[in-house]
Amino acid sequence: MRRLPGPRRGDHASVVPAVNQVELHPYLVQSEVRAYGNEHGIATEAWSPLAKGGSLLSEPAVRKLAETYDRTPAQVVLRWHLQRGTIVIPKSVTPSRIAENLDVFGFTLTEADLTALSSLDRDERTGPDPNTFNVA
Ligand SMILES: NC(=O)c1ccc[n+]([C@@H]2O[C@H](COP(=O)([O-])OP(=O)(O)OC[C@H]3O[C@@H](n4cnc5c(N)ncnc54)[C@H](OP(=O)(O)O)[C@@H]3O)[C@@H](O)[C@H]2O)c1
Repeated sequence: MRRLPGPRRGDHASVVPAVNQVELHPYLVQSEVRAYGNEHGIATEAWSPLAKGGSLLSEPAVRKLAETYDRTPAQVVLRWHLQRGTIVIPKSVTPSRIAENLDVFGFTLTEADLTALSSLDRDERTGPDPNTFNVA
């Protein structure tokens, strides 16, 4: 167990988390949270990695890359996560989609592709914002 140096007990937590799960997808790229995690050895895990399977999967930039690589939009988004080093566990109750979501190791996005997907960032959440969650 690693401990952060310095803090007085009770000021804040002293044990470094192994994983930080936050909402993360091309509409919410979480640059600062990821940079902090990288700096401190905290793995970042994507919550709602497909933005709940909504409009992200119809984005022209996503669809274009899907055509280029002869893959599905979901597979392109999952590759974006994996190549950025994010832990990704997509949810599906559909057997064909579960298979599709696992079949993401036969192609590689370029740096330009990754940048194009990251540039879709619009700070948009599908879930609650932890900065305001449960604040009256
Ligand atoms: N710890 C917690 O409290 C908590 C809460 C919520 C979620 N989670 C976890 O977070 C993860 C993300 O879940 P999420 O539901 O929020 O978001 P998500 O994985 O971003 O999206 C899931 C949605 O996308 C659809 N989908 C999945 N694969 C697809 C594909 N290949 N093509 C098109 N649509 C596809 C699914 O539909 P179908 O299912 O109909 O196929 C479902 O509606 C899951 O692992 C879940 O267990 C954790």
